[in-house]
Amino acid sequence: MTSDLSAATDRPASAARYPDALRRRLARELAAARARTQALTDAVGEAELMRQHSPLMSPLHWDVAHIANMEDFWLVRRATPGQDASPGVREDIDHLYDAFTNPRSGRPELPLLDPAEARAYGASVRERALAILEEAGADGRALLDDGFVFGMIAQHEQQHVETMLATHQLRKGPRALDADPPPASSRARELVGSEVFHPGGTFTMGTDATGPDVYALDNERPAHRVEVAPFHLDAAPVTNAEYARFVADDGYARRELWSEAGWEHITSEGWSAPMAWEKVDGVWHRTSFGVREPITDVADQPVVHVCFHEALAYATWAGKRLPTEVEWEYAARFDPAAGGEGGATTRRFPWGDDDPTPERANLDGRHLQPAPVGAYPAGASPLGVHQLIGDVWEWCDSGFEGYPGFTPFPYKEYSEVFFGGDFRMLRGSSFGVGTVNARTTFRNWDLPIRRQIFSGFRCARSAEHA
Ligand code: AVJ
Ligand code: FE
Repeated sequence: MTSDLSAATDRPASAARYPDALRRRLARELAAARARTQALTDAVGEAELMRQHSPLMSPLHWDVAHIANMEDFWLVRRATPGQDASPGVREDIDHLYDAFTNPRSGRPELPLLDPAEARAYGASVRERALAILEEAGADGRALLDDGFVFGMIAQHEQQHVETMLATHQLRKGPRALDADPPPASSRARELVGSEVFHPGGTFTMGTDATGPDVYALDNERPAHRVEVAPFHLDAAPVTNAEYARFVADDGYARRELWSEAGWEHITSEGWSAPMAWEKVDGVWHRTSFGVREPITDVADQPVVHVCFHEALAYATWAGKRLPTEVEWEYAARFDPAAGGEGGATTRRFPWGDDDPTPERANLDGRHLQPAPVGAYPAGASPLGVHQLIGDVWEWCDSGFEGYPGFTPFPYKEYSEVFFGGDFRMLRGSSFGVGTVNARTTFRNWDLPIRRQIFSGFRCARSAEHA
């Protein structure tokens, strides 16, 4: 993100405002994101908002002002109808809230807005953004096509909501957040350890961001044909009970199960179980947002807070591997009815083309924990793969690269600067992800050592060609 604003060029005011339905949808997504930001920040006092709960995370009041600054930068200054550039709410603080030039660990030392100022900044920017939305329409700028910039800003805020949830999870002290318990499952027994054969073939990966997927981000584009060999994919993410067996089988002490980098990391960190697990009187417990429970009470929930190395070691122990990003997306979009080699992949979601609902996927922080496997039969793929969307991010054994024909949009620092780095991909979405970000084409990434995110995994296995 650069902060140079060239002189405003007059543009003809947009010929037509967005259709009512689009304007309402955009306003609703912006409001949904802000409601979650407010809930997470109202849950703790001023001092807690300004404290750095982990060097991996920003203080929460940094996120609040960063969310506002992004909206100020991209929406208020660049999406005003009839103008290429217009004055922002606060241009003097861009440097404090630029994520790229300020690593998380150093953010507490910056002369930041205090929590009240950060909230007020967010409110002023939002007021301007909503006024712009009232007047805006397509005017030839890609940023404004189909309301892209509004969708992008809603997604950005929701991404930081998930980041703030990770901060809450790392925070010490009693529970500050509340949520309904996840739905129960009567199918866990049948799903745990079961695999689904995928025939493979050529499929369309990614999206050209048309129709309901207009807010797909740059790294999801363009749509392109990819060949995938037949494989088996676990019907559900690996559960706490399954992972506990790996732990009990000395998984963390057996060098041969780990990559060199993975072994180096777990031995230097002294890890012997997922983040937020601890043994109390000989029994493994997990702590979720301040509440400690025996693992046996959440046995059928997908394991969460494992890094890529832990996921890979488990897969090796189980005689399997992790799926590639290609395999994951192929499985999540599989449509046997569409024909083509092994089924074309024209679906938006495993269940079809309709948006996620509370019956299909565990999203939006509704439950603040993964649901047991099999709790969302209405969200399963036609081949019987469950919980691809919601619950936990799923590690894939792929690095982060742009698709053929990738073009950064609207800024290189969202995706492009990370291509080719030491990242591993995460697919699906977690229980903390906002519905506006939940897409089968959505690509998330992190370092292979990170596990403060809501990350789990499922295993795969190569199959013989038929
Ligand atoms: C896509 C989750 C890796 O948090 O670093 C937020 C999302 N980008 N603001 C991140 C993001 C800019 C990004 N991840
Ligand atoms: Fe950001």
